Amino acid sequence: MSSVGIDQISFYTSNHFLDLRTLASAHKIDPEKYYLGIGQEKIAMAAHDEDIVTMAASAAAPLFKDESSKIISTLLFATETSIDQSKSAGVYVHRLLGLHENCRVVELKQACYSATAAVQMACALVSREPSSTVLVIASDIAKYDLDSPGEATQGCGAIAMLIRANPKILTIDPHVGNYTEDVMDFWRPNYRNTPIVDGKYSTKIYLKSLKKAWENFCQSSHLEFNDFQHFCYHLPFSRMGQKAHRHLAKINKCPLQMADIDAQTQHSLIYNKLLGNSYAAALFIGFTSLIENHPSDLAGQKIGFFSYGSGCVAEFFSGTIVQGYQEHLFSDEHRVMLEKRNELTYDEYLALYTVPDPQEGESVVFAPDTTGRFRLAKISDHKREYVQS
Ligand code: HMG
Repeated sequence: MSSVGIDQISFYTSNHFLDLRTLASAHKIDPEKYYLGIGQEKIAMAAHDEDIVTMAASAAAPLFKDESSKIISTLLFATETSIDQSKSAGVYVHRLLGLHENCRVVELKQACYSATAAVQMACALVSREPSSTVLVIASDIAKYDLDSPGEATQGCGAIAMLIRANPKILTIDPHVGNYTEDVMDFWRPNYRNTPIVDGKYSTKIYLKSLKKAWENFCQSSHLEFNDFQHFCYHLPFSRMGQKAHRHLAKINKCPLQMADIDAQTQHSLIYNKLLGNSYAAALFIGFTSLIENHPSDLAGQKIGFFSYGSGCVAEFFSGTIVQGYQEHLFSDEHRVMLEKRNELTYDEYLALYTVPDPQEGESVVFAPDTTGRFRLAKISDHKREYVQS
């Protein structure tokens, strides 16, 4: 078989956002700390009747505009904000999208890294059965404690990708570089709904993992730093991606000017600045941002990807943009989705932050709020009920 990779890619985010100027004003700090310091402008806030399942289904639905969802042989669902310890969120999505009863479904977890694991596993499955199509979805709601350093890096989003032979968007190369180390930079014990974070340490481990994964990549791939035209990084906030790229350029003793280095990442940061962290989805929403916002034809260009998941597991991998990819994008739908969002006041943000969290079988009926295609209608008898909006 000639190649395997991303054939279609679509993302979804909530219709609510908080401008970080509003958060800065509430905290009585300089908004430039957010806009310049961490490079973020807005955080997407999930509606009350929205969760990783509804976001995932809304991200994937456009992929089946012109073809049947029955073709999917496997659905790999990556998340770190799971709604159940046992049942995969993907099984709810299987019903909402009308996937075939013979489709395999499983959920994967390793912080923000799991979507990359899902993509690599999907490539392996397609290599084994070249006529198959694997659906990879990553969906997360990034929520931090109020008044914590992480609060400004909250966000939410889902990405859905079809992985196929002879893909229309990106061929993914077989060589990768991995790095794993048992560290406590960011984690969320089962009894908490926000993570415990050692923020500064997490940024250091992220950069160390980048170096280690890159070194491992160089041992198996013939590609060098200068072979890449663009780079996509895991984006907890956009400045992290810029810092990572400068770090990688320095490791490679690259003589490029800072402006050139920034040009290799800036289009991948656009959506992240408007959404915030979307954890497992962030790297691939960054890739979508690059291919939908770059003014030039990127066909034939090499893209370097760095995936990082706290705890930690990291991977550097590469791919090549396919000729004619622009004809297969959902750029207009994404632009309209982002333009139509509703800006929250600080009090509305706090109301959404304190989302009802039913305990011990308590019933909750959710008033319609999301403008997404699917919504969580109620939770009763410990069961979540999803409907089409
Ligand atoms: P902080 O400590 O409050 O911020 O939060 P700071 O004081 O370090 O300031 C940030 C930057 O803003 C600094 O620039 C300041 O100088 C600048 P830098 O030194 O970094 O270049 N600054 C200003 N700039 C302009 N005008 C001003 C101004 N004031 C300050 N007035 C921290 C930063 C990262 C700690 C926080 O956001 C945090 O804890 N975030 C959550 C953890 C995180 O995102 N870590 C990233 C790596 S780990 C990761 O990516 C994995 C993750 O996605 C989870 C997963 O894998 O599941 C998080």
